Amino acid sequence: MKRYEKLADQIAALIRSGVLAPGERVPSVRQASRSHGVSPSTVFQAYYLLEDRGLIQARPRSGYFVREHAQRPLPEPDIDTRQAETAEVDVSELVFSVLGSLKDPDTVPFGSAFPSPTLFPLARLARSMAQSLRALAPQAVIADMTEGNPNLRRQIARRYMASGVRLPLDELVISNGAMEALNLCLQCVTAPGDLVAIEAPAFYATLQVLERLKLKAVEIPVHPRDGIDLDRLASGLARLPIKACWFMSSLQNPLGASMSEDKKAALYDLLHQHQVPLIEDDVYAELYFGAQPPRPVKSFDRDGLVMHCGSFSKCLAPGYRVGWVAGGRYAEQISRLRLMTTISPSVPAQAALADYLQHGGFDRHLRKLRHALEAQQGAMLASAARHFPPGTRVTRPAGGYFLWFEFPAQVDSLQLFQLALAQGISLAPGPIFSATRRFGNCARLNHGHPWDARSEQAMAALGRLLAAF
Ligand SMILES: Cc1ncc(COP(=O)(O)O)c(C=O)c1O
Repeated sequence: MKRYEKLADQIAALIRSGVLAPGERVPSVRQASRSHGVSPSTVFQAYYLLEDRGLIQARPRSGYFVREHAQRPLPEPDIDTRQAETAEVDVSELVFSVLGSLKDPDTVPFGSAFPSPTLFPLARLARSMAQSLRALAPQAVIADMTEGNPNLRRQIARRYMASGVRLPLDELVISNGAMEALNLCLQCVTAPGDLVAIEAPAFYATLQVLERLKLKAVEIPVHPRDGIDLDRLASGLARLPIKACWFMSSLQNPLGASMSEDKKAALYDLLHQHQVPLIEDDVYAELYFGAQPPRPVKSFDRDGLVMHCGSFSKCLAPGYRVGWVAGGRYAEQISRLRLMTTISPSVPAQAALADYLQHGGFDRHLRKLRHALEAQQGAMLASAARHFPPGTRVTRPAGGYFLWFEFPAQVDSLQLFQLALAQGISLAPGPIFSATRRFGNCARLNHGHPWDARSEQAMAALGRLLAAF
C-alpha cells in the first residue's frame, strides 16, 4: 500500500469512528504533513483520495472538511431478537419471484446481488484467459480437473498467508463458485432432518440450500454491527443437537455486520468445546474499507473444525464461477463429493484467474473497487437521509455493497417491492432473508453501481412510496 493510501485510511478510520465529526475541518495540509512525517504532496494525494471516496470536501480558501453524510445520517436498525426454536425452511418460491424481477436490464438494480460489471477488470481478465490457454500444457486440461490449477491454488494460499492464516495446500478445494463449496460442506457434515444454526437475517441462498437438503434451521439473531448473538448460540448448542453452523463473520449478507477478533476467537472456542463444525462463508472478505483485511474465524482454527469458503465472484470475476474452500479436516471428503457431483470447475477459467492473480494487478484493482464502493455507500446513505421518511434506520457496514434498511413498522416490504418494480426499481425485501418470513418492514439495497441521477431519482421514488404506507 502506498503512503498516501495508508494516510487516507487512517483519516477515514477517524471519520468513521466519529473522532472527526461531520462539518469539522480536517488538519491542514501543513499540519498533517508535520504530524504524519510525510510530504505535503502525499497529504494532498491522500485528501484527493478521501474526496473521491466521498468522505471529505474542499471549501474554497478554507481547507478540507468532513462531509455531512460521512458518518451515520440515520440511526442503526434494532436487532430483532425474537427467535423460533427450529424451523422447516420454505422460501424458494418467494426468492425466485424476487430474483426473476432482476433480469430486466432497464431496472434500477438496488435488489441485485452483484456490483456493477463496469467495476471489474474484464478486458484484463480476457487477456489472461487468452495467454493462459495458449500456455496450458495438454496434460493439464485433464489433470487440473482433479486437483485444480496448481498455480491458482498457490496464489490463493498466498493470500491466506498474507491475512494471517497458514494454509496447507492439501486443505484447499477449488469449486464452482463459493455456492458449490458451501453446499458440499453442508452435505459433508449433515443428513436430512438435522439442525443447522444459521443467521437471522441470512443470505437467502443459505435458506434454499437448507430447504433442498431437508435440514432444519435454528435462527441466531445477528447484531447489525458486530454479528451473531453468541449467548443465543451458546444456549442453542447446549440444548439442541445442532450439527453445523453456517455463518459469515465479516461483512455479513445482508446486514454487513463484522465480528471483532475477540468475538471470532470466542465463537471458535464455543464451537470447539461442542465439536460443532463451522462453515464460514467469507465471499465479501476482499471488500473491506479499513486499512487491514478482517481476520476470518479460520485463523483461530486449531484442529480443522472450520471450513472457510471464498470466491472471486464478488471482487473480480463474476460469471467465471470459481470459488474455493479451505476445508480443514473435511477437505478430502469435500473433494470426493465434488468429484462425484460436478467433477471440476472449468479448467480454462481457473487458468485465467491464476494468470491474472500472478500478473494482472489484483491488489491495485481491489483498492480501486473498495474506494468506489465506499464512495457509493456514502452517496446512498446521504440520499436515503434526504428522501426516506422519519423513523427509517440503516446499517453502515465497513465494506461490501449492501445497506440494510429498517423502515417504520407499517411498511410492508413485499408490497413495496411490487410497487417499486412497477416503477422500474428493484430491491431485496426483508422476508427473503428469513426462514420464518420475518423482517417484513426491512429491505436490502445494493450500492454497487456508480451513483448517478437515475439512482438519486430512484431513491426519491422509493421515498415517496415509503411515505404513502
Ligand atoms: C453470502 C454469499 N455467499 C455465497 C455466495 C455465492 O458466491 P458464488 O457466486 O461464488 O457462488 C453469495 C453470492 O451472492 C453470497 O452473497
